[in-house]
Amino acid sequence: MEVQSIFGLTLTILFLSGVHSATFQIKNNCGFTIWPGTLTGAGSPQLSSTGFELASRASLTLNVSPPWSGRVWARTNCTTNASGKFTCATADCGSGAVACNGAGAIPPASLIEFTLAENGGQDFYDVSLVDGFNLPLSVTPQGGTGGCSSTSCLGNVNSVCPSDLAVKGPDGSVIACKSACLAFNQPQYCCTGAFGSPDTCPPTTFSEIFKKKCPQAYSYAYDDKTSTFTCNGRANYAIEFCP
Ligand SMILES: *[C@@H]1O[C@H](CO)[C@@H](O)[C@H](O)[C@H]1NC(C)=O
Ligand SMILES: *[C@@H]1O[C@H](CO)[C@@H](O)[C@H](O)[C@H]1NC(C)=O
Repeated sequence: MEVQSIFGLTLTILFLSGVHSATFQIKNNCGFTIWPGTLTGAGSPQLSSTGFELASRASLTLNVSPPWSGRVWARTNCTTNASGKFTCATADCGSGAVACNGAGAIPPASLIEFTLAENGGQDFYDVSLVDGFNLPLSVTPQGGTGGCSSTSCLGNVNSVCPSDLAVKGPDGSVIACKSACLAFNQPQYCCTGAFGSPDTCPPTTFSEIFKKKCPQAYSYAYDDKTSTFTCNGRANYAIEFCP
C-alpha cells in the first residue's frame, strides 16, 4: 500500500471510530459572580478545569471526551482570606483554591449530573436537589437526536426553605437550602435501611417543597424516573446558572 493511502485509511479509521469531544458551555446568568465546579466520576481524569470564576453574564466552554460521567455545580459568595485560602459560602469544595481538583461540592448544592456515552450512544442527564439547593440552573442539549429535552430547576427554593433546612448568610438571608436527608440524617429522608428502595421511600413533606418549586429535578434519592433525561448521539450541552 502506498504511504498516501495508508494515511487516508488512518484518517478514515479515526473518523469512523468517532473521536468525539462534546462541549459544556457554562453560562452565568446570575446578577453576581459565581464559581462553577466540575467533578469527574471515579476512574477518569478530571476536565481541563475543575473550578473557575465566572462573572455575571460571562460564559466558558469546556471540552468533554465521552464516555464521561460527572457533575457540575456553582459556588457563591467566595472569598480568599489573608492566608490565601479560598472558601465559598455555598457549595464550597473544600480545596482551599478556585480549582476543586477532584473534590465535590459540600452540600447543599444544586447539581447537574451527566453520564455521556461513547461514539454517539445515549447520554443521561438530570438536575439533582438530593444534596439540597443553592442556585437555579438548567441544562439544554444542542444537537443530538431522540428526547434531548432541556431540564432545569428554575424556582428559587431558598425563598420557600423551611427554617430547619435553611443556610443563612451573614445578613440573615437564606443562601442555600439543605435536603431533609442532609439536615436530619434519618432513614425516611435518606432512603436508607427499611426505606432503602423506591417502593419503601415515598416523597416527604420536605422533598415536596423542592419538587413543587422544581418539578423536573430530583427532590430525593428515589424521586420518580421522570427526572432523568436522555439524548442520543453527540450532543453538546448548554448549562446555565440563574436561567
Ligand atoms: C452573597 O451572594 C448573594 C447572592 O447569592 C448576594 O445577594 C449577597 O450580597 C452576597 N453576600 C455577601 C456577604 O457577599
Ligand atoms: C484562612 O482560612 C483558613 C481556613 O478556614 C484558616 O485556617 C486561616 O487561619 C485563615 N487565615 C486568616 C488570616 O484568617
